[in-house]
Amino acid sequence: MKEEIMEIALKRGFLIPSNEIYGHISGFYEYGSIGTPMKRKIERAWRELFLYRDGNYEIETANVLPEAVLRASGHLANFGDPLAECKSCKKRFRADTLVADHLEAEVKKGGPHVKRLKEHLARLAGMKPEEMSAKIRELGIKCPECKGELAEVGWFNLMFRTNIGPIEGNAGYLRPETAQGIFTAFPRVFRAHGGKLPIGIGQVGRSFRNEISPRQGLIRLREFTQMELEYFFNPAHPQHPKFAEVADSKLRILTRESQKDGKDEETEMTAADAVAKGIIPNEILAYFLVRESQFYAGMGVPSEKFRFRHMLAEETPHYSGGNFDLEVSTSYGWVETIGTAYRTDFDLRSHQEASKQDLSVFVEEEKRRILPHVVEPSMGVDRLFWCILEHCYRENGGAEGRDWSWFDFPPSVAPFGCAVLPLMKKDGLKEKAEEIVSQLRDAGLSCYYDESGSIGRRYARQDEIGTPYCITIDYDTLKDGTVTIRFRNDGKQVRLKVAELPSILRDYIRNGKVTA
Ligand code: GAP
Repeated sequence: MKEEIMEIALKRGFLIPSNEIYGHISGFYEYGSIGTPMKRKIERAWRELFLYRDGNYEIETANVLPEAVLRASGHLANFGDPLAECKSCKKRFRADTLVADHLEAEVKKGGPHVKRLKEHLARLAGMKPEEMSAKIRELGIKCPECKGELAEVGWFNLMFRTNIGPIEGNAGYLRPETAQGIFTAFPRVFRAHGGKLPIGIGQVGRSFRNEISPRQGLIRLREFTQMELEYFFNPAHPQHPKFAEVADSKLRILTRESQKDGKDEETEMTAADAVAKGIIPNEILAYFLVRESQFYAGMGVPSEKFRFRHMLAEETPHYSGGNFDLEVSTSYGWVETIGTAYRTDFDLRSHQEASKQDLSVFVEEEKRRILPHVVEPSMGVDRLFWCILEHCYRENGGAEGRDWSWFDFPPSVAPFGCAVLPLMKKDGLKEKAEEIVSQLRDAGLSCYYDESGSIGRRYARQDEIGTPYCITIDYDTLKDGTVTIRFRNDGKQVRLKVAELPSILRDYIRNGKVTA
C-alpha cells in the first residue's frame, strides 16, 4: 500500500523527491504543484481551529537558534538517538529501531513470550546506550545489511549544526522544533497583549532533525513542518474557557493499563470522564485532544483509525504532567502524528535560569508572580498529509465503475476546489470557460482549468487528484448561462446558473458535499 500511494503521489504531482536529478537523499521530500495547495489548506485549517477560533496568537520565529537556547531546553544534551554501527560494512542504524524491529517480529510470531516482549518494547524509549548494547547482545541482533557484528551503541545528536557568522565555534543549530522560539518570545508576546493568562501562542514552520536512517517517506523526514501551540496558563486554574463545548465529546484512549497488560485495546470515554478519572491531567489538555480529534476527522482520517495513546511513565520526561500521542493506523503501523504534552513550567523555568531573565508574570487576582504552566499540542503537517493520502485513497470502482483510482478528500482540503472543463475548444466554448475560471478565481475559489483530451479522460484526471467538482461548459452555457457540475464521488451531474456558482461552490465546500 505505501509503495503504491507514494508512486501515485509522485506521479500526480503531490510530492517530489528533493534534488532528484542529483540522486534523492532520504529524509527530504518537497511538495509539488498539486501537493502544495493541499498542504496550505491543512495549515490554514489548523490556524482556524487552533488559533483564530480561540483567539490565540501566531508568531514566526527564527529557524537558526544559538547554542545557549538549546542547552537550556535540554536538546544539546538529550536530543539524540542511539546509534549502532556495523563492524564489517560500517553502515549505521538506529539501535532502538533494530531492537524494536526484532521484538516486533517476535511478537508477530506469537507464543507465550509476547507479553514479556511487549514490555521490552515499551522500555526501549528510556534506555541508555549501554543498556541498548546489552539488549542487542542478549537478543543476538546482527547488521540487517550484511549480518555482521554491531559495535557498542553510541549517541548521535539529531541537530544540524552550523556556525553563526564567520567565527568558527560560534555554534548555531537549525531548530529541532518550532516550540523553543515561542518560549523565548513569550515575554514580549505576553506584554503585547495586556499581560493576562491564559494565552495561546502558536506557529507553523520548518523543523530539522538529522535522522539516522530515515526510510519511511513522509513519516520520518530530516526537514519537516510543524504546527505547534503553547498554551500558557496559571497552574492554579487549569481550566479551558471553552471546555464545556467539548466535555461530552468521546475520545478513543489507549490507557496505560491496556498497554501494560498487553491487550492494546482502546477505551472510549468522554473528555469530562477522562479528566474526572485522572487519566487526562486537566481540562486544558482534554480540550486540545477533542479539537485534535475533530481536526483529524475533518481531514478525512476516519475516527476509528486514530487513537490517543497515554504515554507510559517510563517514556515521559520527568517534568511532564502527562503526555498523549495521537496515533494513526497506517501501512507503516500505528504512527504518532501529534504529541500533546503538559509541560508544566519546565521550559520557562529552564530559560529563566539560563538567560537570567525574569520570565514570571504578575497575576493580578493573586497579587503575586508565577511562572505559567504550558500545555502543548504539537503536530507535524507531513505525517498528517501522508495519513490523508492513505485514508482517502480509493481504488477503481465507484458509481461509474471507474477504472481509475481516485482520492476522496474532504472538499476543504482537496488541492483544487473545482475544475472548469470546456466540452470543446471550438465555437466559443474555450473563451467562455476561461471567462468563468476568471470569475471563480476572482471570487477566491481555487480553480483548475483543463481543455485537453476527451471529457471522460479529464473527469478521470480530476478524480485522480481528488477535485470534488467538475464544471463543464457546453453549448447550453452559451445559450442560457448554465453549466453542469459533476460530483466526484457519484459522478452525477446537476445544472446550475453560472452567476450562482461562487456561492454554491463555497457552500458545498463548507458542508463537504461530494455527491449530487
Ligand atoms: N515540541 C514537541 C515536539 O516537537 P515531537 O513529538 O518530537 O514533539 C511533534 O514532534 C510532531 O512533529 C510529531 O508528532 C510528528 O507529527 C512531527 N515530527 C517529529 N519528527 C518528525 C520527523 N522526523 N519527520 C516528520 N515529522 C516529524
